[in-house]
Amino acid sequence: MSMHDDIERVLITQEEITAKVKELCATLDKDYDGKFPLVLCILKGSIPFFADLIKNMTIPLEIETIAVSSYRNGTVSGEIKLKKDIDKSVEGRHILIIEDIIDSGNTLYYLKKMLLARKPASVKICTLLDKIERREADISVDYKAFDIPDYFVVGYGLDYAEKYRNLPYVGTLSPKVYLK
Ligand code: IMP
Ligand code: MG
Repeated sequence: MSMHDDIERVLITQEEITAKVKELCATLDKDYDGKFPLVLCILKGSIPFFADLIKNMTIPLEIETIAVSSYRNGTVSGEIKLKKDIDKSVEGRHILIIEDIIDSGNTLYYLKKMLLARKPASVKICTLLDKIERREADISVDYKAFDIPDYFVVGYGLDYAEKYRNLPYVGTLSPKVYLK
């Protein structure tokens, strides 16, 4: 059985993602030239986007990972739980956060606040997808690949119950999947 059968509609193709990643990397190479940025992968959803970005950047950089959960299905809103922290000091460093999708923006709002308390030189956000209609938190998105409407999407890192992260494109799920 193929995962592709569960997809109702492809919203962003693999080719569109590849082209956009190259465009973003040209900008990032320019903006971070000489800054030896610390490029931060938010596990797990950002893995494919993060991997493509760092492979297409040509300037020297360092990578780190962090894992947070956003309580988005719970009652406490606006709180994040740090499941895995960065292993080293970020003081004086230029941090570039790589995110899969910004929905309410709460996760990134709290993550950015937490990182800023550690006195980095800068903290910027680069996201694959932005569901701008859903925004609650006051955050600025510095780099973005695509805006999307308020649909639940999977693929290229994004999951539904931990599945579909390895699809090479972004799409919507067929309703039969939710009914299972
Ligand atoms: P925020 O704190 O509301 O911005 O939540 C962002 C997180 O919610 C993302 O990192 C995803 O894990 C998850 N999320 C939001 N929308 C979607 C979606 O359409 N598909 C899969 N995960 C999503
Ligand atoms: Mg998720």
